[in-house]
Amino acid sequence: MRRRGFLALAGLVGTGLLGVTGLTGCGAGAGGNTGTLTFTNPLRIPPVLDPKPGPDGVKRFPLHLRAGRAELLPGKTASTWGVNGDHLGPTLRARRGDRIAMGVVNQLDEATTLHWHGVRLPAVMDGGPHQMIAPGATWNPEWTVDQPAATCWYHPHPHGLTSRHVYRGLVGMFILDDDQAPNLPNTYGVDDVPLIVQDKKFRPDGELDEAFGGTFGLLGDDILINGTYNPFFEVTTTKVRFRVLNGSNAHVYSIGFADNRTFHVIGSDAGLLNAPAPVRRFRISPGERFEIVVDFTPGEQVVLRGYAGDSDVEEGDYDLLKLTAATTLKPSPDLPATLSGVPPIAPGAKVRKFTLGGTNINGKEMDMARIDEVVPAGAREVWEVDNITFSHNFHVHEVAFTVLDIDGEAPPEHLRGPKDTVFVEGKTKVRLAVEFGHHADPTTPYMYHCHILKHEDKGMMGQFVIVEPGTEDRTPRTLSAKGHHH
Ligand code: C2O
Ligand code: CU
Ligand code: CU
Repeated sequence: MRRRGFLALAGLVGTGLLGVTGLTGCGAGAGGNTGTLTFTNPLRIPPVLDPKPGPDGVKRFPLHLRAGRAELLPGKTASTWGVNGDHLGPTLRARRGDRIAMGVVNQLDEATTLHWHGVRLPAVMDGGPHQMIAPGATWNPEWTVDQPAATCWYHPHPHGLTSRHVYRGLVGMFILDDDQAPNLPNTYGVDDVPLIVQDKKFRPDGELDEAFGGTFGLLGDDILINGTYNPFFEVTTTKVRFRVLNGSNAHVYSIGFADNRTFHVIGSDAGLLNAPAPVRRFRISPGERFEIVVDFTPGEQVVLRGYAGDSDVEEGDYDLLKLTAATTLKPSPDLPATLSGVPPIAPGAKVRKFTLGGTNINGKEMDMARIDEVVPAGAREVWEVDNITFSHNFHVHEVAFTVLDIDGEAPPEHLRGPKDTVFVEGKTKVRLAVEFGHHADPTTPYMYHCHILKHEDKGMMGQFVIVEPGTEDRTPRTLSAKGHHH
């Protein structure tokens, strides 16, 4: 009942009784776009970058961050940023065991970073706010991929500027594979399709409107999928796997199909579920990923939609993508009954509590020089995230976690897989079983934060270091100036 006010408001928006401008101040967006699209543009599929290893066995990924112009709305161009192109970036692909080296060249005229969201690696390679890349500079992190197959992504993370840099388009998928893959659709762009969902606001001339006002920041009514406005995708197989990434600044979507069909969630942020979970809708907040498998019959057409949910950050219904099935479909293998033998992450003994209130965590705003938490390498802990105000979400770098409960209740089946980001609705408490990695470094922190980017930029972020077990008490809680270049 605590959300009655928001529900009533959402109802008014749905019937068009409230104007858009009246709502921006309280954080709710406008009234959706259903019925306004014609689905005339083929879905853009980001190219794959999967370089052959060099003679030293290292796969080198050249990534150029640059400004450009892209046709986001048909017939109009917008000033955008992209990686190796004008807008968005390639899908990076690597396999467990690969040695990979990134060559991130900053060709922009301002400093930024590139963070590998979901990738487990040493803190100095993480691309968070401490790894700034000056204009003209090149950053060369290098590591060995050592985690289960997962749909990760990359985006900038400069403290206070992440909203703008992500919104302009420095975003791409980062797909990690392993040798345990069950028999799932895996032909990229055919039956294994990335869907980067991002809402935008456009000015009449087609330029991006960077109006980050309101409680949650930018909430736009035009949705781009992989940078494509008004998109359709031609289905050629009886099953298609979609890797859905919410790359929006703030928008939360409850995704499902216009005909309410059932489909299966097979994976979440940090890897596959143990078994496919049937759903009609799944809620996805910024930074989260869900892999789904959908059945199609020959010749049918159906619209993928983002529905309004019942939280304060969700709003109208949005048509996302039309799926048009060919008159003959290539048969896909049946969905395996078991997807992963990895047991769910077991909760540890140590409990840490995080209170989300306003745009701070435990009453504190982000301080680049302060270490908030010190965690021993390889630890299993319980993190309790108690949201005492409006909706947020919670992302932890370098870890994988499972959701133990939401307000004391077990999460739905499709939320029981390995994750790194979780939606925490207003006035809700979520408990996480967190598994930390082994890369100890007492002087370089990882981040945990709200992934609603305006909140993150306002300082809704904390820092933790991973240290050799037994050295927690001796670990300094402040960083020297050289440890945190701006
Ligand atoms: Cu998606 Cu701290 O990041
Ligand atoms: Cu991250
Ligand atoms: Cu938030």
